[in-house]
Amino acid sequence: MAQQHDRILILDFGSQVTQLIARRLREAGVYCEIWPFNAAPESRIAAFAPRGIILSGGPASTTEAQSPRAPDHVFTLGLPVLGICYGQQAMCLQLGGSVEGHDHREFGRAFVDVVEDSALTQGVWAKGAREQVWMSHGDRVTRLPDGFRTVATSDGAPYAITADEARRFFGVQFHPEVVHTPHGAALLRNFAHAICGCRGDWTMAAYRAEMVEKIRRQVGKGRVVCGLSGGVDSSVAAVLLHEAIGDQLTCIYVDHGLMRANESEQVVATFRDRFNIRLVHRDASDLFLGQLSGITDPEAKRKVIGRLFIEVFEEEQAKLGGADFLAQGTLYPDVIESVSATGGPSVTIKSHHNVGGLPAGMRMQLVEPLRELFKDEVRILGRELDIPEAIVGRHPFPGPGLAIRIPGEVTREKADLLRRVDTVFLEEIRGAGLYDAIWQAFAVLLPVRTVGVMGDGRTYDQACALRAVTSTDGMTAEFYPFDMGFLGRVANRIVNEVRGVNRVTYDITSKPPGTIEWE
Ligand code: XMP
Repeated sequence: MAQQHDRILILDFGSQVTQLIARRLREAGVYCEIWPFNAAPESRIAAFAPRGIILSGGPASTTEAQSPRAPDHVFTLGLPVLGICYGQQAMCLQLGGSVEGHDHREFGRAFVDVVEDSALTQGVWAKGAREQVWMSHGDRVTRLPDGFRTVATSDGAPYAITADEARRFFGVQFHPEVVHTPHGAALLRNFAHAICGCRGDWTMAAYRAEMVEKIRRQVGKGRVVCGLSGGVDSSVAAVLLHEAIGDQLTCIYVDHGLMRANESEQVVATFRDRFNIRLVHRDASDLFLGQLSGITDPEAKRKVIGRLFIEVFEEEQAKLGGADFLAQGTLYPDVIESVSATGGPSVTIKSHHNVGGLPAGMRMQLVEPLRELFKDEVRILGRELDIPEAIVGRHPFPGPGLAIRIPGEVTREKADLLRRVDTVFLEEIRGAGLYDAIWQAFAVLLPVRTVGVMGDGRTYDQACALRAVTSTDGMTAEFYPFDMGFLGRVANRIVNEVRGVNRVTYDITSKPPGTIEWE
């Protein structure tokens, strides 16, 4: 579907930040895809028809035998190429230059001196300027291939920016895709727009119209079911599908009774009443809470919830008389083929359950209308579709819900208590205007009772923990540095307003070594 849009191909050498290159290009209105460096035969590239190619950074050293190289045809297609960090080094080496390891390694903030003008820096950095960048390299280019010249230098990299303008090949030793290179996004925009000639025609308004057509073509007169969770992805997928196929879509909302306060009501009000989407709301809280009874192990809880969710979903789906398609809110980061740095299997820290992950074993075809989008694009599309900000801007919420915020056995009473604590915390966060600055904030009900004193009396009630973190993708996180006055106010309100809780703690663990959720 994105066939009509000008596009750029990113070949990945395994850098931690390759996805950021794609995000910066998308922000500049340019469609792009990330492929592993070794999965780009000439015929596949020709079919994709990019206007330019970017070679990402990567963890290897070009000085090692067997280290990755770009396919040679990348340099003979007549397309502009931008090599970033490892990508620059591989390009220089492959075109006849040389790269060496060096004692002067640069990690983190560094400065480059711009010594020449170039199409890459045009309108962004002037000749003679000294500019901040973010570096992460040990090796560096030591001799340029024929045709290249130096555009900028740094203390650790004599060839911090290089250019062969005749062939439209450019290299940067630093990472323009990270925010710590303040003008990096503008450099990438220059590459995409000025050098590759992309028009910037990738917008969510265009996506919406094209995707509606595409869904209609795929689904025909078939019937579609969509699991709704109240989160951003399934909500946007549902509204987009509804716009395309109206009543051929039925959403199923399996309510496990472990949502936040008022969220189930809000889901029903938004999708059934406001958007007029056919919605089955199945209150399965008795079933879920019944089967969770006596279970304390976090993985066991997750497994029970995941299994029940699928059972209930299938039951509701069967009551509808079946469907031809299952809609899933799969996002682009879920489908990018990864370049494994180690090649080894990774350890399961938590077995995730989410609505988007219903097994395709249900013998329905999949409709995945968000498959080409990053999370921030899904939010923009959601606003485009007039989905309320309370849903589009909502913090992530785990599929197993409050069950993994109640260490120990989960009961209805504990879930109710936790909802009340959580509500106070979030009210205060919203009131202080901090909601959007935080990735996720929530309360955890601890399986601990502590002694307190209220008025003249002794209390012996439960303790809770508050958790708030900043993050960009949930993979790493830092605790949010509230001021102490704010935390004191929240604690005071919780202990005074929520009978049954008499102590409040704040979790200051980062991820790693902690995780965001407690279980
Ligand atoms: P952790 O706790 O692993 O969480 O640091 C990282 C992010 O994932 C969310 N999370 C889940 N999301 N199903 C989901 O859809 C799950 O089973 C699940 N477990 C954790 C968590 O809230 C955080 O945003």
